[in-house]
Amino acid sequence: MNDLTPKKIVAALDRYIVGQDDAKRSVAIAIRNRWRRRQLPDGMREEVGPRNILMMGPTGVGKTEIARRLATLVGAPFVKVEATKYTEVGYHGRDVESMVRDLLDRAIDMVRTEQTEVVRTDGERRTEESLLDLLMPAVDGAVEQDAEATDRRHRSREKMRERLREGELEDSSVELSVKQKVMPTGVFAAGVDSLDPDMQGFLEKLMPSQSKRRRVPLREARKIIFDQHCESLIDEEKVIEMAVQRTENSGLIFVDEIDKLCSSNRQGGPDVSRQGVQRDLLPIVEGCTVSCRQGLVRTDHILFIAAGAFHGTSPSDLMPELQGRFPIRVELNDLTRDDFLRILTEPENALTKQHIALMATEGIKLSFTEDAVEAMAELAATVNQSTQNIGARRLYTIMEKVMDDLSFEADEKGGDRVDVDRSYVMTRLKDISEDEDLSRFIL
Ligand SMILES: Nc1ncnc2c1ncn2[C@@H]1O[C@H](COP(=O)(O)OP(=O)(O)OP(=O)(O)O)[C@@H](O)[C@H]1O
Ligand SMILES: [Mg+2]
Repeated sequence: MNDLTPKKIVAALDRYIVGQDDAKRSVAIAIRNRWRRRQLPDGMREEVGPRNILMMGPTGVGKTEIARRLATLVGAPFVKVEATKYTEVGYHGRDVESMVRDLLDRAIDMVRTEQTEVVRTDGERRTEESLLDLLMPAVDGAVEQDAEATDRRHRSREKMRERLREGELEDSSVELSVKQKVMPTGVFAAGVDSLDPDMQGFLEKLMPSQSKRRRVPLREARKIIFDQHCESLIDEEKVIEMAVQRTENSGLIFVDEIDKLCSSNRQGGPDVSRQGVQRDLLPIVEGCTVSCRQGLVRTDHILFIAAGAFHGTSPSDLMPELQGRFPIRVELNDLTRDDFLRILTEPENALTKQHIALMATEGIKLSFTEDAVEAMAELAATVNQSTQNIGARRLYTIMEKVMDDLSFEADEKGGDRVDVDRSYVMTRLKDISEDEDLSRFIL
């Protein structure tokens, strides 16, 4: 995080997302501000609130993609939620606070993984001893052993240790006891998630954890035993304390499809619920305390990034209070033919690269000429204009159509070279692209 400067964040996003510089800039600044805030002295730190961001832009131009890439980039707890999956408290469904609980769960996983690394050496050492115990069951304690017998045992244990380290015993089977939580069935299984968190914790404690003896290959036993040792080596309370801290100070929640919470008219059915979700969302974004199974989490400093296409609606259709909580607005631009050209070739996961890699698994050397990529980009732009504008998603449908024949026959063509050029693209798409109705259905 220390060296995750705004410029570096933008550069990292550039590897996957073409254009949209304003949006990248804003999220980079917001992320950096979290770090800056944490460097402040105590009293000051509390005063600095997060600057939540609202990303607006047509469909398929990279809003969700930016969030996804950001998630893997920042080492902070992160969740991405769809605003549409929530319903107002009291209605059936997930309540809005569960996003904070998910965030805490994510943070706990993170901290636990880190702590596992801290205790790894110790845990591995103990695991080896436990494995040796399993491989060489202790002699009956009642029998008094003379010095020589003890010595002999010790030597053969060291022999065994050597073999274990050489990896000779990986497939031999050992018996060990495995703890299992018995999952609740029936009524509980259906709705544990929607229960009050206190109730959830209560239920979890009620559920008996059974020990079961199992016979497994040694390689598997090592994992199980290692986990058991880690569990005892890691201070669970400390993990939760650190996780709560991290959630509160660097947590990041991405609320996608927030425009779907706008109501176009004032009355009737789903609108009531949408308004309700906005109302429920407000305190969380404003700062409140959410009670989670593991403890209380304050949301004051969690950073929220919301995104929506706002097609036919605008941010001003959101509740005024909610609008105010997203002071930074960034617009994402419509993608042009040139953007498409770059999207097809530049990002690390670019479509052409994907198809080349897929075909390589069949032994085909696939390549796209420059004019082929240009043709596809042009077509995407034209079809987006003449039918519906679905942004970069259009490239997927076009690409699939171009690759259709080859994908079907690839296994029979091993060893071939296939050069996709402009005429290859045009023969497969000409008829479709010239007929507006056809392209509406097929592309
Ligand atoms: N600027 C871009 N650079 C690279 N790829 C892009 C870009 N914009 C969109 N894509 C690709 O198009 C697909 C759709 O983009 P994304 O999911 O980000 O759309 P969105 O803006 O969230 O749209 P919606 O409003 O419909 O949710 C993704 O697979 C993404 O990889
Ligand atoms: Mg999206």
